[in-house]
Amino acid sequence: MNVPGPGGQRPQLPRIVEAETLDHLEPDDPDAQRSRRDLLRVNRVMGAARILGKAMRTAMAGRMPSGRPLRVLEIGCGDGDLLLAASAGLRWPTVDLTLLDRQLLVDFETRRAFATRGWLARTVTADVMQWAIAPSHWPRFDLVVANLFLHHFEADRLADVLEAIAPRCDALVACEPRRVRLALAASHLVGAIGANAVTRKDAVLSVRAGFVEQEISALWPQPAAAAGNGAGSEWQCREYPAGLFSHVFIATRAMAAPTA
Ligand SMILES: C[S@@+](CC[C@H](N)C(=O)[O-])C[C@H]1O[C@@H](n2cnc3c(N)ncnc32)[C@H](O)[C@@H]1O
Repeated sequence: MNVPGPGGQRPQLPRIVEAETLDHLEPDDPDAQRSRRDLLRVNRVMGAARILGKAMRTAMAGRMPSGRPLRVLEIGCGDGDLLLAASAGLRWPTVDLTLLDRQLLVDFETRRAFATRGWLARTVTADVMQWAIAPSHWPRFDLVVANLFLHHFEADRLADVLEAIAPRCDALVACEPRRVRLALAASHLVGAIGANAVTRKDAVLSVRAGFVEQEISALWPQPAAAAGNGAGSEWQCREYPAGLFSHVFIATRAMAAPTA
């Protein structure tokens, strides 16, 4: 039974992380292929490309490098189509793009579409954590992007992932499911847009594992900045609801003061 909170408001949904079916299907499994196509429609309904693109623009305002391409990494990129859609609204100069996922799902057409925008994409097939803790020759990324990815991790594990990623970037943007009753109700209805059984199950699991309030900021390596008390901190975190069903997290590293 849901007992109303002190102000009469209903209590928050508890965060529950369960393994999603799609993550355990082979890339060429027909159900997985169909579910990934469903994901395109789900992202469209959520307005994910617009929300992510806007958050990326916010994160990079006044931070574009000069004299070299912008270095962007997407973690848990899937087939790359969502970032491709988000990039359409960005007027950025050349981007050196790394697309990382445990499965190799980005096809030639997607890479070519990125290339027509000046985004030169390479793929990395790896577990994010193994990649992040491995000794690396990669230069630091200007921006790390995640869409429908961070919610796969329990809090402890997510804190480890963020701690491993933070030293390797100057900004991180994530767009995740919002763990609220409206989104949960909508997740039960994805069958209405033709989603298959895998997507119908994973949609509900995703919302249950989603985020609200300042939950991701609290796991960022320097939570003091998340509380709005970031003076002197290396990082600033912002976290907010977006659209009806999304939750955005932005972390930016403080820029070095110009030398006199
Ligand atoms: C829900 S899909 C989102 C894909 C894409 N970002 C999008 O919005 O369409 C999550 C993706 O994360 C990948 N993934 C899950 N756990 C991972 C891990 N530990 N390391 C790397 N990729 C992972 C899955 O293979 C899957 O492609």
